[in-house]
Parts: sequence; structure tokens; C-alpha cells
Amino acid sequence: MARWEILCFALCSYLGIAWAASLGVVYTEGGFVEGENKKLGLFGDYIDIFRGIPFAAPPKTLEDPKPHPGWDGTLEAKKFKNRCIQMTLTQNDVRGSEDCLYLNIWIPQGKKQVSTNLPVMVWIYGGAFLVGGGQGANFLNNYLYDGEEIAVRGNVIVVTINYRLGPLGFLSTGDANLPGNYGLKDQHMAIAWVKRNIKAFGGDPENITIFGESAGAVSVSLQTLTPKNKGLFKRAISQSGVGLCSWAIQKDPLAWAKKLGQKVGCPTDNTTVLAHCLRLSDPKAVTLAYHLQLTNLPTPLVHTLALTPVIDGDFLPDMPDNLFANAADIDYIAGINNMDGHIFAGIDLPAINRPLVKITAEEVYNLIKGLTVDRGERGANATYTLYTQGWGDNPDQEVMKRTVVDLITDYIFLVPTQWALNLHLQNARTAKTYSYVFSQPSRMPIYPSWVGADHADDLQYVFGKPFTTPLGYLPKHRTVSKAMIAYWTNFARTGDPNTGNSKVPVTWPPYTDDGRHYLEINNKINQNSVQQNLKSRYVNFWNVVYQNLPQVANISVAEELLWSEENNTF
Ligand SMILES: *[C@@H]1O[C@H](CO)[C@@H](O)[C@H](O)[C@H]1NC(C)=O
Ligand SMILES: *[C@@H]1O[C@H](CO)[C@@H](O)[C@H](O)[C@H]1NC(C)=O
Ligand SMILES: *[C@@H]1O[C@H](CO)[C@@H](O)[C@H](O)[C@H]1NC(C)=O
Repeated sequence: MARWEILCFALCSYLGIAWAASLGVVYTEGGFVEGENKKLGLFGDYIDIFRGIPFAAPPKTLEDPKPHPGWDGTLEAKKFKNRCIQMTLTQNDVRGSEDCLYLNIWIPQGKKQVSTNLPVMVWIYGGAFLVGGGQGANFLNNYLYDGEEIAVRGNVIVVTINYRLGPLGFLSTGDANLPGNYGLKDQHMAIAWVKRNIKAFGGDPENITIFGESAGAVSVSLQTLTPKNKGLFKRAISQSGVGLCSWAIQKDPLAWAKKLGQKVGCPTDNTTVLAHCLRLSDPKAVTLAYHLQLTNLPTPLVHTLALTPVIDGDFLPDMPDNLFANAADIDYIAGINNMDGHIFAGIDLPAINRPLVKITAEEVYNLIKGLTVDRGERGANATYTLYTQGWGDNPDQEVMKRTVVDLITDYIFLVPTQWALNLHLQNARTAKTYSYVFSQPSRMPIYPSWVGADHADDLQYVFGKPFTTPLGYLPKHRTVSKAMIAYWTNFARTGDPNTGNSKVPVTWPPYTDDGRHYLEINNKINQNSVQQNLKSRYVNFWNVVYQNLPQVANISVAEELLWSEENNTF
């Protein structure tokens, strides 16, 4: 470090205290960083924003992340960095960069003094382990995962991180040649960086919460279950996803490594050679070698996700249900949206969203059959019987369509989440457990009016969009947003969503053996929003009755089917 830098560091810190509203230049393990200091409103407080701080070196293709070597001088951290390389929506091109292991930090400041000892919330984005970025989708320079509203309203530090995606994040030969889980290891590196460095930004390294949605929620769950994070964070929030979801773990990674290897022209009969060849292949070609089919699916969409975390014997030493002892001291909130499955049901059965198009009982049965391939016809029949019990002789279309959405919601999200809550509770030492259902109806005008909270609908409220873009929302939406930010940031501060800096509309009791309470979150939170035993008949069916049926096939059979169909369409 040069002398003038030390001098500047001291001076800037001094000035920071004198103006008392800006951190100025911050010294991190890699070197100095300088962010943006922004005034909030005319007489308001301030917020310091750092964008694009590296938490690891630019990664080598399909290799574990390595520490950053550091830099000379002061790193300008004012612009978001590239997302990790990923397929575009049309799936025929890529965006982003391999050099993507960066994070962003929002620190709320008062008028007179820089903050110290603030709780820290680290956001892990979703996107099916295929797409996404730490800043989120950008609409007119309004980034979905902008941490400002959470930071300012909850008086917490918000950090958003990048991690590798798709084949480059998760491809694995299932052995030491290409162990996989690169994306999870990136997340872990980012969390560890926050633990080591956040004090210099005014954060409390003993008060770190990780939170995430969908694949990000699965990631959060897996980060609580791996033995690698011991002591790094205190609390976690999974929004619509846990490590126990059927789609969270790829059980046959080698088959996919071979398929993708073949597509990019690698020899596939020796995993040493295959791994070596994949590492030398064009990262863009490897990324595009995987293709997610979204129309004319031969199997329900949930069975088609292939590039996900794996049991590698190291980062994940065992199946997630055997790892909950590692989360014994991590406070945990897990919840779902009441129609999380809607968007997926609409892909499996597009008529769901077309008021003039009818669905038939046979279509529902066939969808169930696809979902339950592992338990064969017995599984399909038992599932069909349970879900159509209320149908009567001549069910109307809305009843049938809602049944499909409920079924998909249960299978993909609700049931595994209840299982995770139970395992977390059973294994808890000091940890507390909380359960919620988010049910604010979808605002998508093209959907039928019966559609509740769809997958990812919670994001806009957690990130305070009804406040950022007030004209796009109604007062009732600000009510939901305020409540969610209050519960979430109180939890980050104290481990109890009811206690902290923000008042909450009703006390949210913990999930316990004798209560199994959950909070229903929408714009009318009151005493009646505290409920018990979420869909216990259905949860019991899937987790007990169904599990006890003899297994007749592997879910990956469905993936094989998909792959052959897809190749036929080339
Ligand atoms: C977290 O912050 C709260 C409030 O500032 C404090 O009481 C607590 O001791 C801190 N540490 C932990 C581990 O909760
Ligand atoms: C695979 O290839 C490596 C490197 O060429 C070689 O050392 C190894 O013996 C091969 N393994 C098998 C099972 O053929
Ligand atoms: C499943 O239901 C169908 C239609 O009711 C019936 O024909 C079939 O025998 C049932 N299969 C099993 C294994 O119960």
C-alpha cells in the first residue's frame, strides 16, 4: 500500500465522521474501494452504495473459485458488473461474462454519523440455476434487486452477490474430475467475504442473514446445510424453495455431463478426458449446449431442470435431508406463495390461463402421471383421487384449473418446504423456525381473476417496489411491502421477525411441534392471518403415503425422454 493511500484512508475516514453521512473510501482485504454516496430526498438521510466489488478472482472455466489477489490504488465501485455468462431468453445466444464474481452493498447512513454494527442481509437471486444477476432485471434503470428500500426502511446493510449459472455453474461428472457445485461455492465465497469485510462498511459480522428466492431459496437452504459455512451467518430466509425440492439436486450428473460434452465435441467415455475437454471448450458453446424446452413438453416442466447442485461428497456430503444438524443454530424463515405453481402449470397446461379453453379430467390425469413417474400408476391414481375429491360429477372449469395449480404448487414448493420446516425444527438447538404463506393476488392483468400469488410475486414487495415506483402500485401494495420489509429486517436484527426497529401488523408465532403456526402475508394482515397446519392432509399424503408406495422408476427417466424429444426437434 502506498503512503499516500494510508494517508488518504485516514483522512477520508476522518472526513467521513466530520460529514458523518458517507463512508468515503473503504479499505477491504483486496484494497481500497470507493462507492457512491447518495442523498435521500431534500433533507433526508444518505445511503452509501458500492457496486461491483470482487469477492473472488475471475474464475477459471469449471473450476472452484479462488481468492482475489487484490489491487493497487482505489477501485471505483460505482457500476454494476456483468452477470455470470448465461443463455438469453431466446436461448440462442448468451449474455454476461465469465468474469462475474462481484457483489454490491447498500449501507444506510444517518445525517450526522456513519452507521456501525448494522445487521447484514445477503441476497441470493433465483432463476432456475440458469439465469439471473445480483442486480436483477433492469427496467428503466430501476433494478429489481436494488437494496436501497430494504436498507433504508429496515436500517440494515443489503448485499447482493453473483454466482455462476447453467453448465458453467453446475455441470459435474459426479466424480473428482468435475465435482460441480461451482455456483454454490461462489455463493459461499461471497458470504465468507462479507463475514471478513463487512465491519469496514459499518456491518456487524455476527449478525449476517442470507435470503433468496426460488433457486436462490434452494441455495440459501443448501448454504445452511453444508458443513462449510459453520459460524459464517446466523439466519436464513428461503422464499419459495428449499434443498428438499425434487428439482434441487441432480442425481445423475454424469449423464448430463456426457450429453453436453457430446454437443461441444468432447470425448465422453473417460471423465478425466471429458472434464479436461469441457474446461478447454468455448464457455459460450458449453452454456448453449443446454436448452430448456418450454413448449410441447413430454414431461412436467419441474422434471426438466438438469443443471442444479449435486451431492459431491464435500460441499454437500450427503442428501439434504441428512444435513439439517448443520443448521441447528441458524434461525430460519421458510415460506411459499399460495400459487407458486401457477406459472409452471401454465407451461404444462397452457389452457389454465385461457378462459375460453377447457381442460379435461384426462389432461389432469396425464399431468399427474408425468409428475408421479417414480411411483407409477399407483402413485398417479392415489394422487388423482386425492386432488379431485371435491370435484363432484360435473366440476366447473375454474375448480379444475385451480386444482392443477394447487397440485403443481404443492409438488414443486409447498410440500418440500413443510418437510424442511419440520427437519429444521427437529434438529434445532438454539435456532428458531418460522413459516409463512404469501397470498397477495397476482397483478398480471392477463391472468384469470382467481390467480393468487404467483411464483416470484413476493420479490417486488420484499424489495420495496411499491415505494420506489409509487405510481405503479396502490396503497394496499405499500401495506404489504412495509409489513414484509418489517418482518424480514426485524428477523435479520434479532432472529425474531416481531422484534426490532419496525412495528409489525401482528405477532408471527414460531413454527413449533404443538403449534405448526404460519403467517399468511397479504395486505390484510390481522389476528386471522396467524394459522396452523398448512394443508396438512396433502403434506402428509406426499411425505408419508406417497413416499411409502414402491418406487418403479427414476425421475431421470423423464429427463431422458425430454432429451431424446429435444434432439429430434433439432
Ligand atoms: C445482533 O444485533 C443485535 C441488535 O443490535 C444485538 O443485540 C445482538 O447481540 C447482535 N448479535 C447477534 C449474534 O445477534
Ligand atoms: C482416463 O484418461 C486418463 C488420462 O488420459 C487416464 O490416465 C486414465 O487411465 C483413463 N481412465 C480409464 C478408466 O480409462
Ligand atoms: C388406476 O386407475 C385406472 C382408472 O380408474 C384403473 O383402470 C387402473 O387399474 C388403476 N391402476 C392401479 C394400479 O390402481
